[in-house]
Amino acid sequence: MASEKLKNARAFEEQYSPYVPEDERPAYHVNGPIGWINDPNGFSVYKGEYHLFFQYNPYKPIWGPMHWGHVKTRDFIRWERLPAALAPDMPYDKDGCFSGSAIELPDGRQLLMYTGVREERQEDGSLKPYQTQCLAVGDGENYEKYEANPVLTAKDLPKGGSEADFRDPKLWREADGYYAVVGNRPADGSGSVLLFRSADGFHWTYQGPVASNHNQYGKMWECPDFFRLDGRDVLLVSPQEMMPIGLEFHAGNGTVCMIGEADGNRHLIRENVHAIDYGIDFYAPQTLEALDGRRIMIAWMQNWDTARSQPNTIRTCGMMTVPRELSVRDGRLIQVPVRELSRYYGEKISYKNVPLSTETILTGIRGRVIDMTVNVRPANGSVMYHAFRMNLAKDGEHVTTVRFKPEQGVVRVDRSRCGFPFDIVHVREFPVYSKHGSIRMRCVMDKHSLELFVNDGEQAASFVLHTPLSADVISFEAEGEVLMDVDKYDLIFSEEEEQ
Ligand code: FRU
Repeated sequence: MASEKLKNARAFEEQYSPYVPEDERPAYHVNGPIGWINDPNGFSVYKGEYHLFFQYNPYKPIWGPMHWGHVKTRDFIRWERLPAALAPDMPYDKDGCFSGSAIELPDGRQLLMYTGVREERQEDGSLKPYQTQCLAVGDGENYEKYEANPVLTAKDLPKGGSEADFRDPKLWREADGYYAVVGNRPADGSGSVLLFRSADGFHWTYQGPVASNHNQYGKMWECPDFFRLDGRDVLLVSPQEMMPIGLEFHAGNGTVCMIGEADGNRHLIRENVHAIDYGIDFYAPQTLEALDGRRIMIAWMQNWDTARSQPNTIRTCGMMTVPRELSVRDGRLIQVPVRELSRYYGEKISYKNVPLSTETILTGIRGRVIDMTVNVRPANGSVMYHAFRMNLAKDGEHVTTVRFKPEQGVVRVDRSRCGFPFDIVHVREFPVYSKHGSIRMRCVMDKHSLELFVNDGEQAASFVLHTPLSADVISFEAEGEVLMDVDKYDLIFSEEEEQ
């Protein structure tokens, strides 16, 4: 039975979501029906379909009482909306149903595991959150919270573990039972990822730490995910309060990928550590194993520090990245948009060996809902060019630039003139690998976003662009002489194609 709180949320989204016009919504990126969304939750297979839940405040386009919103898909591109799945309606989650994950049980039910937050006033007047792990069971649309909730509390934590920062369980199943990794703040005040095990998905015991931060990468580690890929063990975490490290990690909320080998206790011995995404708007990624074995990742295409500075005209805030296929190559996590995107390709416009120096517009190369790949190399192999630049989402007033300098091996994205009305971070620079000045850059755009994939996914960088949709010019320029190839597809989403 849906609680009053959940019924209210469902009625509210049904009544008001039609008022958010289609052109304010991305064409193929998951977004909320109304209100605010953040982290992806419960990204998983259920009865042959891919389900995605998300942190959700239906009532306002700002963070607030956390519900779980819900969508599903068969191809990661077209999504069907489902009613809100969870509301903060129990004493143990009255202050929020925070992030978590989902799995299909052998009896055909869907199991959700999430963090229940309950705040209590302390003697000094402050509010302290108590975070516990809770379960809900359902049929893919309606869920009952488990009568024995919460299933993991302070008493399940190792000595020194904080009950105020104990959240974001990620579940998976193996031949010998169920596992979950959960973020926690140990006694040193930074972050750790703890492993729990269960024979049936309902009764859980602590196993040990998968990894500890020791104050090296930020503080508290949020939203862990842990999986095996291409013969390596991969841990993803989203640390709070990071200090910048060169061009690899920026300050604030970041995302970190650790690749290595887990020992017999599943403690990760890390060998390679790098940022997951080098853009401004990317946080809290979560993965699933697709029906065909691919590991697919989706993330919140926003970040805490910039999410709070959205234009006050928006009626719904937040979207997800395009789902990305992952692989591990040479100690790096490689990401490319799911191949299903190509099913929505319209006409292909191609140019080969275009000589370029001054600003150039190519006939047919424009748009805001596109998948465009650009290859660049020096026009004369022995003379290195100084810089190559793409100007995207451009009109007389607006532009977002992507610049590559081969001598530095650095890509720089600047959205200062995209139309954001606030003086927040608008520029990111990140290192890329380039042999003799050659680089391949793929721009996946969906109205108010740009996702850049460099050299077939060696680096990814995600950006929200608050640019009017009429600004759809694309131009290219170089300092020095380059040759450029361009392949551009419009992405077409007509009603008839709906499944
Ligand atoms: C990460 C996060 C999670 C938490 C959720 C609350 O973005 O802070 O740790 O569960 O958001 O909405």
